Order: sequence, then structure tokens, then C-alpha cells
Amino acid sequence: MKFFLDTADIDAIAELNDLGMVDGVTTNPSIIMKSGRDIMEVTKEICDIVSGPVSAEVVATKADDMIAEGRKLAEIAENITVKLPLTWDGLKACKTLSGEGKMVNVTLCFSPNQALLAAKAGATFISPFVGRLDDINLDGMELIEDIRTIYDNYNFETEILVASIRSVNHVLDSARIGADVITAPPAVIKKMADHVLTDKGLDAFMKDWAKTGQSIL
Ligand code: G3P
Repeated sequence: MKFFLDTADIDAIAELNDLGMVDGVTTNPSIIMKSGRDIMEVTKEICDIVSGPVSAEVVATKADDMIAEGRKLAEIAENITVKLPLTWDGLKACKTLSGEGKMVNVTLCFSPNQALLAAKAGATFISPFVGRLDDINLDGMELIEDIRTIYDNYNFETEILVASIRSVNHVLDSARIGADVITAPPAVIKKMADHVLTDKGLDAFMKDWAKTGQSIL
């Protein structure tokens, strides 16, 4: 399973990228707003660090304007993935931009039928938002299971990119289901290393080691 970081925080991206934990990056208008940076500048900086796909989202709502914005964003770097919302206009833009050979990430997906449409329109990635479904008492991971089944039934090549991840359990469930990619905030990826028994065990080893009076170096 590939790990994308859902952030425009350059320091966090660089830190986890150095550890080999970053297969790509996703951004959206809210993430760009939080960064306080110019979209073209910060996206270019991310593309200079990460060699995998970097999603940059259009903000137009009409297909022709989305296509124009997508073409401009794609000029930032070879690894740009144009992110489009799952609307009819977004699907039209997806068909055109993917037909031009550009990577496309169709976002704001909340149903299996939406995911089916995105695959038929040639999306490289579909981004179902699990956290936002959980927020309204629906089951986000059930959507991932459904999309996995549907895509496998028909051998669609569109990759399932689980988005709106809020916890390490979302990551684990995605891996169990066989999602292709997760995109998560850096803090969630870091939390995956935590375990109370690891801390407890290490503490005991350190105390016993101190009693030996030895040193390795
Ligand atoms: O990339 C979009 C998505 O991951 C948003 O997450 O937490 O705002 O629902 P969230």
C-alpha cells in the first residue's frame, strides 16, 4: 500500500520522505489556505522533494475552466496529478485530461456509484473520504470495501486512494481491505509507530542495561 501525505507542510514532507515513507502528496484548497503559501510555489517545492504523484486541486466548477486550470497545474512538474471534484463537470474534465495523458485524482467521492463513474472517466485515482462519512454516522470503510469489490469485478485500473483519514485504524482497515493508497496527515503516519508495550518494554530494557554497567560504544 502506498503512503501519500495529506499536507503542504514542507518540513513534515521532507522528514518523512527521507525515511522512505512518502510515495506521494495530496493537497486541496483548504490545505493550501492553511499553508499560507502561493499554490504554484508551494506545489513546486513539494514536487522538488517528492518524486511520486503530487495532487493539486482545481478550483473552477465548469469543465472547460477545470481543464484550463488542470493544464496549468500540470505544467508545475512532471509528477503533478490534477485533482478534480466528483461532479459531472469534474468527470468531463477527467475524461479530457486523462486522455491527454495527465494523472487525475477524482476527489470528494462518497458513494460506490461515484467511484464507478470516475473509473469509467479514466481517473488515475479515486479519493473516497472515509472520515467525513464517519462524521455523519455512516461507515467510511464500508465504502472502501464496496469500491474494492467493484473495481476488482471489472479490472478497473483506477487506484483507490483512501482520503479523509483521521486515525491509525483507518490506515489499518485500508490495508486489510487492499486499498491501493492512503493519504493521511503526517501525525497519523507517525502515530503508527506508537505502542504502549513498546515504550514499556524499552523502559525495562534500559533499566536492566543500566544495572550491567556495560556500554556498547
Ligand atoms: O485530501 C482531502 C481529505 O483528506 C480531507 O480530509 O480530514 O478534511 O476530511 P478531512
